[in-house]
Amino acid sequence: MTTTTVTITAPRLALPARWQEAWLDWVEERSGLHIRETRLHVLESSLRERMAATGAETHEHYFQRVAVRGDSRESAALLDRLLNHETSFFRHTPSFEVLGQHLIPKLAAAAKSASPPVLSFWSAGCSTGEEAYSIAATAMDALGAGPVEFAVAGSDWSEAAVERARLARWSLKAESDIPEPYRERYFRRVRSGDPSVEHAHNGLAAAPHPQRVPPILAPRLRGLRASVEPHPALKARVRFARFNFLDPVSYPAGPFHVIFCQNVLIYFRDRLRVEVMANLASCLAPGGYLVSAPGEVPPRSIPGVKPVWFGPTMVLEKDPGSRAHPAAQQWAKGEVLHAK
Ligand SMILES: C[S@@+](CC[C@H](N)C(=O)[O-])C[C@H]1O[C@@H](n2cnc3c(N)ncnc32)[C@H](O)[C@@H]1O
Repeated sequence: MTTTTVTITAPRLALPARWQEAWLDWVEERSGLHIRETRLHVLESSLRERMAATGAETHEHYFQRVAVRGDSRESAALLDRLLNHETSFFRHTPSFEVLGQHLIPKLAAAAKSASPPVLSFWSAGCSTGEEAYSIAATAMDALGAGPVEFAVAGSDWSEAAVERARLARWSLKAESDIPEPYRERYFRRVRSGDPSVEHAHNGLAAAPHPQRVPPILAPRLRGLRASVEPHPALKARVRFARFNFLDPVSYPAGPFHVIFCQNVLIYFRDRLRVEVMANLASCLAPGGYLVSAPGEVPPRSIPGVKPVWFGPTMVLEKDPGSRAHPAAQQWAKGEVLHAK
């Protein structure tokens, strides 16, 4: 019997080791993203693409422009290319079931006597807005015509993603992820034209540079001719802003009753995940909840919150008895913590 050995080799990296190290550090310090060995080819192809787009002839030139001189537009273009923006409506369904069936009823009962009786939600790292609208639809359904109102803040580092979120129009393919009762009650189909015309109609600023919609987001723009949008009553409850997890000054004003932070911190090192989660926890109202995705919470305690289980689904509940995180003061002052 003959056996065949297949050797799988990683894509060849033309990026010299010293530049690789410099870029890995720069990306992590800027965004928290820790690029693993198996994803180095993405760094390589992103640099190749951005260097070609900007006419940079050498790594030296491009690094000087982005990291040393701090060209913010080009930094944004490169990071947009590197960050994963994948998202969908009701992405981790059990989280939304727990939200609608357990968290909101409990929070609403307490909020009835509050002044004003309003629940605040935050989709932190919302990408193109599907998560924020999934929260909004769940809240609208769970709260019904009761006395408690709600508002949802969505935020993301990516300007292009936030712009798409504000536009609030998605393809029919994205629509298929919305569970039937919500789709029927809170969304509607519309016919729309060219996405650039849509941007103009929505009063968004003209493209400041050609990288405004990065290629990674482009597939979402296809198929916009027939698209889905939220009903105006739902849209009125949701606002979007840019922010960076590493820059607490950019965090939306809380406190929040529920913060969703899903499929974001998995790309950070454990230590930074704990720091960011502790800071998100400090933005929670008493009795509030931090909802992350499976695999996202490091296997150690997060200052400020404690795990609570709903069947197989875990959420983190604000722990009124917990002490402030030791890094919270430093963070609040805006000193960026570096993951090492
Ligand atoms: C994979 S998407 C997840 C979207 C959504 N939460 C979900 O679960 O579908 C991750 C998002 O986090 C954003 N992100 C990554 N690092 C960030 C940072 N340091 N500050 C703010 N947003 C960041 C990215 O731009 C991206 O849109």
